[in-house]
Amino acid sequence: MKSDDTNRREFLTRLAGLGAALSLSSAARALPPQQAFPTRDIPGTGERLPIVGFGSSKPVLEIPAEGTEPLQAVLGTLLDQGGRVVDTSPRTVEIDREFGQILTRPRFQDSLFLAAKINTEGEEAGIAQMRQSQQLFGRPTLDLLQVESLRDLDVHWPNVRAWKDSGEARYIGVTVSAYRNFERLEAFMRNEPFDFVHVNYSVMEPLAEERILPLAQDLGLAVLTNRPFMNGSYFGRVAPHELPAWAAEFDCESWAQFSLKYVLSHPAVTCALTETSNPVHLVENMNSALGRFPDEATKRRMRELVSTF
Ligand SMILES: NC(=O)c1ccc[n+]([C@@H]2O[C@H](COP(=O)([O-])OP(=O)(O)OC[C@H]3O[C@@H](n4cnc5c(N)ncnc54)[C@H](OP(=O)(O)O)[C@@H]3O)[C@@H](O)[C@H]2O)c1
Repeated sequence: MKSDDTNRREFLTRLAGLGAALSLSSAARALPPQQAFPTRDIPGTGERLPIVGFGSSKPVLEIPAEGTEPLQAVLGTLLDQGGRVVDTSPRTVEIDREFGQILTRPRFQDSLFLAAKINTEGEEAGIAQMRQSQQLFGRPTLDLLQVESLRDLDVHWPNVRAWKDSGEARYIGVTVSAYRNFERLEAFMRNEPFDFVHVNYSVMEPLAEERILPLAQDLGLAVLTNRPFMNGSYFGRVAPHELPAWAAEFDCESWAQFSLKYVLSHPAVTCALTETSNPVHLVENMNSALGRFPDEATKRRMRELVSTF
């Protein structure tokens, strides 16, 4: 565990770096204050969500080593840029208590759209995770409650539905992050009414566009996407290559935006989650929502290009 002084020094260095990066890097340029961040409808209700959101796993899991200031910095940047969707997963009580101390600050308490999960086996353990999120995140009503990776779904689902009926979850859904779960996901989507499907989708993992995303559109489900950068391994694969000049045709200025603009160009996608501990990266990722998106022919070209990497 780093000392508070070390954390503070690193945090201030990073903030100084953010200022420098914002003036130097066009991909991470801050949004002009008068420009509203793009939003899309949740199909079931018409409530609008900013189209890029924040997956909190990395900075939350880094709390024991890095403290909470990096997490607070990225959450502040999310709001500054016009975002508000934050995806969470239950962690240890100690970690979630510290996360909750940030989420319950006035700046974040009422402004964030907070997605929580159940990711355990057994009914009692699932109930305990729900209660932990409600209590430690200071949210008697969660915006979205998801069963993660379909884990013990049959056991948890009756409770998840009941929490929606009782108003403890405004929306409910399920997540997957691997192709091996797509078949089960599709069967569940066809058989059960719910609000949000959360699925892995990117320029290097495009399979969701074949069946899952069109089905979500047909059924009127909102869609969250994960793994735009395959948890970071994408950057290792693109690193040796120059961004193609034709990326400028859809206002793309970096490899991060190359994948995110691919995701956001799909009309079924309500909000693309990206995970980072770095405010500069978050600004760059959120800027993917601005300007043009690739058309179908360009998307094919993008897939073909990265499939050679
Ligand atoms: N089954 C599930 O429900 C499930 C599974 C996986 C993920 N998810 C959700 O999806 C979120 C995203 O997670 P993911 O696995 O999909 O991660 P990801 O966003 O694909 O990749 C995150 C990695 O990319 C790096 N990164 C982010 N922006 C960057 C940029 N502009 N330039 C360079 N590097 C950048 C981050 O490092 P830095 O910190 O250095 O930026 C981090 O190492 C998770 O937090 C979670 O909310 C859900």
